Amino acid sequence: MNRNLALEFVRVTEMAAIASARLMGRGDEKAADQAAVDAMRTMLDSVECDATVVIGEGERDEAPMLYIGEKVGSGNGPKLEIALDPLEGTTVCATGGYNSISVMAIAEKGQLLNAPDTYMQKIAVGPEGKGLIDIDDTPLENLKRLAEAKKCRIQDLTAVVLDRPRHKELIDQIRDAGARIQLIGDGDVAASIACCQPDSGVDILFGTGGAPEGVISAAALRCIGGDFQGRLKPRNDEEVERALKMGVEDINKVFTIEELASGHVMFCATGVTTGNFLQGVQFKPWGAVTHSVVMRSQSGTIRKITAEHHFDTKPRY
Ligand code: FBP
Repeated sequence: MNRNLALEFVRVTEMAAIASARLMGRGDEKAADQAAVDAMRTMLDSVECDATVVIGEGERDEAPMLYIGEKVGSGNGPKLEIALDPLEGTTVCATGGYNSISVMAIAEKGQLLNAPDTYMQKIAVGPEGKGLIDIDDTPLENLKRLAEAKKCRIQDLTAVVLDRPRHKELIDQIRDAGARIQLIGDGDVAASIACCQPDSGVDILFGTGGAPEGVISAAALRCIGGDFQGRLKPRNDEEVERALKMGVEDINKVFTIEELASGHVMFCATGVTTGNFLQGVQFKPWGAVTHSVVMRSQSGTIRKITAEHHFDTKPRY
C-alpha cells in the first residue's frame, strides 16, 4: 500500500470530524452522525483507490451511504477495504461529552474481519502487554500478568470499561482484583487506543461493545504494537445467522488481533470532542483546528497531525 495514502485518508476523517463537531451538544445524534457520514462519503471519492466498505453504517437496505459492500474512492489505484465509523460516539458528540472521534482503518483486500453489527467481548492492552492477555482468563489473571510486565502492582493499573449494566459482574471482578477502574459512557475505540498511550491513565480495556468497533480497534492496535482479542456476542439467532452469512465459521471463536486485522494496515482518526486519545475540533473565527493521528502497521510510524483549516480557501467546509 502506498504510504502516502494514509495522509489522503486523514483528510477524510478531518472533514467528517469538523462536520459533526459543528453539531456537538445539540442533542441530535442522528444529525451529528449524518453530517459525519455525508462529509466522509464526499471526501472519500477524492482518494485515488478502488476501495470497498467492509465495516460501515450497516447493510445496504438500512444505510443509504457507506453501507457494507459500497464502493468508494476514485475507482483507480490499489484495491483496498475500509472499516469506518464516521462518528464513533454519537451520543457523546450530541451531548458534548468526552472521547468521540471520526475513524477509519484501511487494509488490502481480504485482510479485515467482516464483522456483523453485533456485540463483541474485548480485551485490549498496549505494547507491554502483548502476548500476555487471554480473554478466557479472569480479570485477575490478566491484570497480574500485565502488572508484572509493567513492573507495578495491580493496584497501580487502571482498567477501562464501558459503563453498562451487563458489566456488573466484570466490574466486581476487577475491583476484587484490586485494580482501579475508569468507567466510560461510550467510545471503546478511543479507550482501546488509550491503553497504548503511557500518559492516558488507562492500561487495559475489558468488556463487551460493538463488534465493528472491535475490528477498528484491532487495526489501530496492530499499528501501535498493542494486543487485542475479541469474541462475537450475538444477541439473538438473527445476529448469529448474519455472522455465519458473513463468513464467521465458529460463533464462539476467540479472534486474535491478526485475525481481526491482518497484513499491512493503516489507521487514521480525528478527534471530534476531546478525550484521553485526541483533542476535539476547535472552531476559530477563520476556520477550525483538528487533531488527528495516522498510523501504519508496516512502519509502526505514528503521526500526530494538528491541522488548521481556513474556511475561506476551502469552500467545501
Ligand atoms: P456509536 O458511535 O455507534 O454510538 O457507538 C458508541 C459505542 O459506545 C461504541 O464505542 C461501543 O463499542 C458501543 O457503542 C457499545 O454499544 P452499547 O452502547 O449498545 O453498549
